[in-house]
Amino acid sequence: MTINSLGYLGVSSTNIEEWRDFGTAVLGLQDVSQSMADCGDTVFLKMDEQPFRLLVQAGGGDHLNLIGWETVSEQALQNVSERLTAAGTAWEWGSPELCAARRVQSLIAFKDPSGMQHEAFWGRISDFAVFNSPVGVAGFVTGDQGMGHVVLPAAQFDEMTTFFTEVLGFGLSDLMKLRFTPDPEEPIKRLWFMHCNRRHHSLGLFEMPMPAQCVHLMLEVRNIDEVGRCNDRRIQAGTPLTGTLGRHCNDHMVSFYMRSPAGFDIEYGAEGRTIDDWSRYAVFESTAASYWGHDFSVGQTD
Ligand SMILES: [Fe+2]
Repeated sequence: MTINSLGYLGVSSTNIEEWRDFGTAVLGLQDVSQSMADCGDTVFLKMDEQPFRLLVQAGGGDHLNLIGWETVSEQALQNVSERLTAAGTAWEWGSPELCAARRVQSLIAFKDPSGMQHEAFWGRISDFAVFNSPVGVAGFVTGDQGMGHVVLPAAQFDEMTTFFTEVLGFGLSDLMKLRFTPDPEEPIKRLWFMHCNRRHHSLGLFEMPMPAQCVHLMLEVRNIDEVGRCNDRRIQAGTPLTGTLGRHCNDHMVSFYMRSPAGFDIEYGAEGRTIDDWSRYAVFESTAASYWGHDFSVGQTD
């Protein structure tokens, strides 16, 4: 037993107020920064009964800077630390102050082969206050499926896929091999989707460098109407659309993509599929991202 779900995400921002507005007015998350006031110059955004899922820290750049993974128990976290040690990956215990700031019993911190910072934790501390969206989002699909999925740039693709499958215990869900031009000389970019619970994928690895250190973060709401209402709010706020509405072939998510203030995309979707028995699931390669829609050329124009 190792990683159980995507727990929280940390973003570095040169303008945390822009994130506060985007997170609340467009995404519909709840700003709980006041109740986390002991944690410094940070915007905390809540999307379910967990104390927060997104933390945006004032910093010198705009990019993803932290991924927090939930384990189910102290023993599971111990297993993660032992696997990191066996793989020769350096890790350290989070200080009591850091564990208090993350609202967890304990955590370990380590870097993946691309240098991204990760934390794995057990025992989230929550007051179970009801999620109260400022724009009336009824709720997000989280729980044992975690906060959604994140797709990371993985220029060192073989090292990254080995790290996440063999060390952290993720399973491959499906894969793609992409070229952006008809030129057969263009190198193929691999894109792997991986699971750690019944959500079709919690992690994607894309064989491309990205300055924002993230390709996209997906948040799932309970129905298509919630997706449409978010698109209305996106238009109202002037947030750039980066991928039109569509349904993915792999996780069946109906979603659209928009540009976050950090430069990476947020996918906002509904109807994602879950897999209850991975032993009966056959891994596949798809040559198209979507059954319909998801025109990403709209994001190339701005
Ligand atoms: Fe996605």
